[in-house]
Amino acid sequence: MSSLAEPTQPPFEYEALDEHDTDTLGAMLADAAESGLVVGLIGPLGAGKTRLVRATATALGADPSSVSSPTFVLIQEYFGRLPVYHFDTYRLRDVRAFADLGAEEYFGGDGVCFVEWADRVASELPRDVLHIEVTVLAPTSRRFRITASGPVSQRVLSRLR
Ligand SMILES: Nc1ncnc2c1ncn2[C@@H]1O[C@H](COP(=O)(O)OP(=O)(O)OP(=O)(O)O)[C@@H](O)[C@H]1O
Ligand SMILES: [Mg+2]
Repeated sequence: MSSLAEPTQPPFEYEALDEHDTDTLGAMLADAAESGLVVGLIGPLGAGKTRLVRATATALGADPSSVSSPTFVLIQEYFGRLPVYHFDTYRLRDVRAFADLGAEEYFGGDGVCFVEWADRVASELPRDVLHIEVTVLAPTSRRFRITASGPVSQRVLSRLR
């Protein structure tokens, strides 16, 4: 269980000047992704977390019309080359409500899991997470700072570079 076995990589930083650049990052993530990946998204309201998930799912070949905002839905599933499971935890009352969704059964499974507001449910996430922190720089520009914390996320991060 030593973290020495997994040398940590520096963050990968990506700056999007507009939402099309964010879509490009989603396509890069789709190319780099593998089954069992868990992505934790952190960033304020309207940062572009959902936009990035949508772009990734679309690039994985999911039907874009099936990729809708999960504002009122806690788990959305998009079926492309890899299944995408999208959790929006914003409306959850507490961390236990996330556990009650059965989210754990999705982690390390056949698809890629995206968890919006990952910082709110950190205790329920696996150790191996690709964290993406989104910072709003200007009305349409965003910085995505991506870090890895385990073998799957490290491999995905290496492929992203
Ligand atoms: N570079 C950009 N990347 C992503 N979205 C952008 C960008 N520039 C502008 N936007 C706009 O910002 C908004 C992002 O909305 P989105 O639903 O993806 O945010 P979110 O982080 O999921 O918010 P919430 O926390 O409410 O779920 C959209 O209206 C989008 O058009
Ligand atoms: Mg969202």
